[in-house]
Amino acid sequence: MSEQKAQQDLQLILDDIHRELAPRFGEGKVADYIPQLARVNPRHFGMAIVTTDGELHRVGDAEVPFSIQSVSKVFTLTLALGKHGENIWHRVGREPSGSAFNSIVQLEHEGGKPRNPFINAGAITISDLILAGHTPKELIGEIVRFVRYLADDETIVIDHEVARSETATGFRNLALANFMRSFGRLDHPAEHVLGVYFHHCALAMTCSQLAKAGLFLAAGGSNPLTGHSVVSRQRARRINALMLTSGHYDGSGDFAYRVGLPAKSGVGGGIMAIAPGKASIAVWSPGLNENGNSLLGSLALEMLAARTGWSVF
Ligand code: DON
Repeated sequence: MSEQKAQQDLQLILDDIHRELAPRFGEGKVADYIPQLARVNPRHFGMAIVTTDGELHRVGDAEVPFSIQSVSKVFTLTLALGKHGENIWHRVGREPSGSAFNSIVQLEHEGGKPRNPFINAGAITISDLILAGHTPKELIGEIVRFVRYLADDETIVIDHEVARSETATGFRNLALANFMRSFGRLDHPAEHVLGVYFHHCALAMTCSQLAKAGLFLAAGGSNPLTGHSVVSRQRARRINALMLTSGHYDGSGDFAYRVGLPAKSGVGGGIMAIAPGKASIAVWSPGLNENGNSLLGSLALEMLAARTGWSVF
C-alpha cells in the first residue's frame, strides 16, 4: 500500500470509529471522587494519532484539553529512570497488581513496596524519588517543562482547580503515602510528595498534545518530529512493557487481550496507547468502566487495533 493511501486510510478509520461510537457517547461513569472531574461533560469524545513519520490525524474533540490524571505517571516514570536508572526498582516493583489503582491491601504484606509505578502507591513513590534535591514547586516546574519538551508544545499547563480539588479530597492517597512512610519507604513528608503527585495528575492536555508526548515511545526513544532523544531504545521498550502489563491496573489483562497495545489510562477518561514503530495514539472519553478506565476509549482503541493490525501480538 502506498504511504499516501495508508494515511488516507488512517483518517477514514478514525472517522468511522467516531461515527460508529457516536450513539454511545456519554456511556460509562465519570469519576466523581475528585469533585472537579465530575463537572466534565460525559459526551466528549476525541482521538488523535501521530505516526512515526510525522502524520497527525484527529477526530472529534481532539483539541479540547482534559485532565490526564494517571497517564502522567508514564512521564514521571521516564523522569525517574533518567535520574536514578535501574535503582528505582529497589523502591517499586514491576509486576501487575491485580488490584484497583488506589488499593492499599498489598502494601501491608509487601513491606510498603508498591507492585508497580502505575498504581497510586507506586506513582507516589516515584514522586518521592524524583523529589530528591528539589522543592515540590521546583519539581512540578520540571515535570511541566519535561512534558512540554516531549510534546514540543509550550502551551501545556496544570489545571490548578483540579489539583486543588484533589488536594482537598485525596484522603486515600494521603493514607497510602503515610502508610508507606510508616515502613520507612518515603524520604519526604507525605504532604510534599502528594503536592507533586496531585499536580502532575492535574496536567491538562489535548489528545493531539498527548499523542505527540508519547511519540518517543513509539519511535525507539526519540521523537522523530523534533529529533529530541529522550531515552534509549531499550528503555522505551521497557516502559512499553510496563504499560502493557500494568497500564490499566486490574483491567490490564483484558485490555491486552482486546487491544494488544501498551497503553496508560487515567480517571479523566484519557488513554495514551503506543503502536511500536508505527504511531502514538491518544483517546479521550470521560465515562469509565468498572476498573476506572475509559469505557469508549478502550473500545475505540480495540476498533483501531483491529482495523490497522497494530496489535503487538
Ligand atoms: O490519585 C488518583 O486517584 C488520581 N489522581 C489518579 C488516578 C487515576 O487516574 C487512575 N486511572 N485510571
